[in-house]
Amino acid sequence: MEEDVKNIRQSFEEDIKTANDASSLEGLRVKYLGRKGLISELMGRLPSLDKEKRPHVGRELNLLKKHIQGELHEKQQLLSSGREPEEGKIDITMPGILPEEGRLHVITKTLNEINDIFVSLGFQIAEGPEIEKEFYNFEALNIPLEHPSRDAFDTFYIRDDILLRSHTSTVQIRIMEKVKPPIQAIMPGKVYRPDAVDASHSFMFHQVEGLMVDRDIKFSDLKGTLNLFTKRMFGEKTKTRFRPSFFPFTEPSAEVDISCIICKGKGCRVCSHTGWLEILGAGMVNSAVFEAVGYSPRKYTGFAFGMGVERIAMLKYGIDDIRLFFENDIRFLKQF
Ligand code: PHE
Repeated sequence: MEEDVKNIRQSFEEDIKTANDASSLEGLRVKYLGRKGLISELMGRLPSLDKEKRPHVGRELNLLKKHIQGELHEKQQLLSSGREPEEGKIDITMPGILPEEGRLHVITKTLNEINDIFVSLGFQIAEGPEIEKEFYNFEALNIPLEHPSRDAFDTFYIRDDILLRSHTSTVQIRIMEKVKPPIQAIMPGKVYRPDAVDASHSFMFHQVEGLMVDRDIKFSDLKGTLNLFTKRMFGEKTKTRFRPSFFPFTEPSAEVDISCIICKGKGCRVCSHTGWLEILGAGMVNSAVFEAVGYSPRKYTGFAFGMGVERIAMLKYGIDDIRLFFENDIRFLKQF
């Protein structure tokens, strides 16, 4: 029987080495300490032993039982703490594992920068829905039925009168419907157009809309605001140019260019040798828009502008392909 005790100890030492999860530890507990386990089986045989041997073997058995209990407990603790077994052997001079540091997406960063500039000028930030009624995307903005942008090929329709907004100008209407002037707000958000994706087109991109309405808002207010914006965004030396243009919801309308940030206006490939880069559309709010929201065009005037955030980021950081923003390639994203 003393031989049996030794054997049990040996087989336990083997078993415990390979028990590396909770269920195999429980298996060992049943095998050795269970009611029908190896220890109690030997205990049961004690009475058949010679009287003088009994106390000695009994003590040995109890010690073995304690030993097994202790080992099982220790191993269980080890497993649940997830530590390496050989604590003394951890090499504290090994280089650590650096956690990857998160950062804002370059579009979010650019958007925040644009927002900050306008907020510092007293603009409030407003948002509107991306799924929008046709009325807000077109009618209220004086875009007539025959306008090409209303075509199903130029806009994502969900139902006849529901669509993914194609510009953030929708939010101009939503604000003016709700509040009376003075209004001084910017409206950032996503917009959608069913364009084939290439280096300069994406079916989704971001815009920041601007709107200022009060008594006596003049074109010079628009110029002053955008001049200041482009200087803060692209540097003090940046020049701004207003070219006559057309939008149904502004009159007069302008396309706004900045002096090329690559060649400083001398002419290069990026600016097609013109020295200028187009960055946004703008104008004085069309009186038809005021009428659509119930403002008196005789009482109020205002300006509006809309810019593409991807375009601003591409110019500012010298990025030549819009797809890079959306491909989630960490090698690109971690540069900003
Ligand atoms: N909504 C126009 C666009 O998406 C931009 C714009 C906004 C123009 C406001 C003038 C005034 O192209």
